[in-house]
Amino acid sequence: MTEWFEWRDAPAGDFAVLGDPVGHSLSPRMQSAAFAALGLSYRYHAIRVPEPELREAVDHLAGLGYRGLNATVPLKEAAFRWMSSGEELTRRIRAANTLRLENPDSINTDAPGILDVLNENQVGEGPILVLGAGGSSRAALVALASIDRKTAIWNRTRHRAFHLAEELQLPVEVVTTPTAQGFAAILNTTSASLKGERIGIDWFGAVSGALAFDFAYGPGPTPFMEDAAQSGLKAIDGRALLVAQGARSLEWWLGIEAPRSAMLQAVA
Ligand code: ATR
Repeated sequence: MTEWFEWRDAPAGDFAVLGDPVGHSLSPRMQSAAFAALGLSYRYHAIRVPEPELREAVDHLAGLGYRGLNATVPLKEAAFRWMSSGEELTRRIRAANTLRLENPDSINTDAPGILDVLNENQVGEGPILVLGAGGSSRAALVALASIDRKTAIWNRTRHRAFHLAEELQLPVEVVTTPTAQGFAAILNTTSASLKGERIGIDWFGAVSGALAFDFAYGPGPTPFMEDAAQSGLKAIDGRALLVAQGARSLEWWLGIEAPRSAMLQAVA
């Protein structure tokens, strides 16, 4: 568990992650390692903020001298409403995970972070299957559409998948059963792994070297990763995305390149 504060009791600082709950967040460890690697003495804290209090909390933190904030579940939509960015992907996702307090603005670094991870893992051409229809799925679908990648979506509750595709006005195929066949990558945006639950994926005919990318992470491989690896896929967890989005947040705040390997090491 990370040390965390209620927003009214927050100490002075420079950057912070806000969430509810927030004690599980690895961002303080990762961003502090980044600042140390850059020789900067910025302080990065974890602060609990109930969703209805986001505006009040952000004003309070600005008064304490904070320069930038990350927002995690369940605050990303409220963060976008706090100060909506004109940035294209952020506007489409309508959720932000990164806030700047001076010259206020908010952006979503999850979406480009997802593309960073796909690039780092040299995902082949070919369609991508997205599992889940919550906020993370939304970011993934918008990100993939921005690079014109053919995409399919599966969700346990099927109508939510239809609803999401329709709402985003994307030509996404909604599949009834999750099968790996033919996909260059499978992105698990569901919360199944967080609860130790398995998704009944048919791995038969999976493309050799395809990427199985779980947005969740835990102490060891997630159930989704175990199943994927057993079927010969390359399996990675959400730490890669944690670093990719966090590095982009830091770069947006400071305008300097983030030390990605130090950040990865801090959460490995
Ligand atoms: P987010 O954190 O991305 O905003 P959310 O809105 O909490 O996500 O949604 C969680 C997602 O995980 C949903 O797509 C949910 O499926 P349902 O819409 O059917 O509820 C999915 N999910 C959670 N547990 C799951 C499980 N055991 N198997 C498959 N999908 C699961």
